[in-house]
Amino acid sequence: MKPIKIAIDGPAGAGKSTVAKRLAKELGYRYIDTGAMYRALTFKALKKKYNINDEESLKELLKKTNIEIRRNGCCENQIYLDNKNVTYEIRQPEVSNHVSIVAKSKQVRDYMLDLQRQMASQGGVVMDGRDIGSVVLPNAEVKFFLTASLEARAKRRQQELEKKGYYSDLETIAEEIALRDKIDQEREYSPLIQCPDAIYIDTSNYTIDEVVEILKKEIEKKLAEN
Ligand code: DC
Repeated sequence: MKPIKIAIDGPAGAGKSTVAKRLAKELGYRYIDTGAMYRALTFKALKKKYNINDEESLKELLKKTNIEIRRNGCCENQIYLDNKNVTYEIRQPEVSNHVSIVAKSKQVRDYMLDLQRQMASQGGVVMDGRDIGSVVLPNAEVKFFLTASLEARAKRRQQELEKKGYYSDLETIAEEIALRDKIDQEREYSPLIQCPDAIYIDTSNYTIDEVVEILKKEIEKKLAEN
């Protein structure tokens, strides 16, 4: 099978990255976590006290920033910011709660778009994010839109955070996710949308294994059609 491009979009906490990573591993593809790139930039902005609501300030930040995704095997993304591994730091709740503001900026999105297209240029990738099927890889052979109920997503995020030592109540997490979704969906440039040609999957009642199986079947079906 010729190596193809697979785009996975959807709201926060829908299980995209876990599923994308597994899928990439099974197909022998490269996994690219685009959210991590926005997170790395946000992490630096907060640490160095840039004004994330000001375009001039973000312009300065972009000029002085280098973001790289290095691979650990096929599917473990290690995120390097200015040559320093920040893979764990970028998951801090402080970053999660500000990243949607940074991701609204057109110049930030243009900067990421170039990098992401370069990374996917050889094919054989599973890329996840918010605008992959719509903007980054509009020609991706297979596109998915993964979602889940807000309650299911908040529960998953809570478990994920607890594993990393961050504790918060379900209601607060649900509110934070809902706010992030709202900003991601309502922004002017490349908002989170469900592409008409994306396969919609509600993962609320499925395990990770089940979702991966569904995706694999859909990929086979889609490739058999072409
Ligand atoms: O997938 P994630 O939660 O790590 O993404 C963090 C944020 O980055 C998300 O709230 C919106 C932004 N993002 C984006 O705007 N476009 C992408 N392709 C990926 C992420």
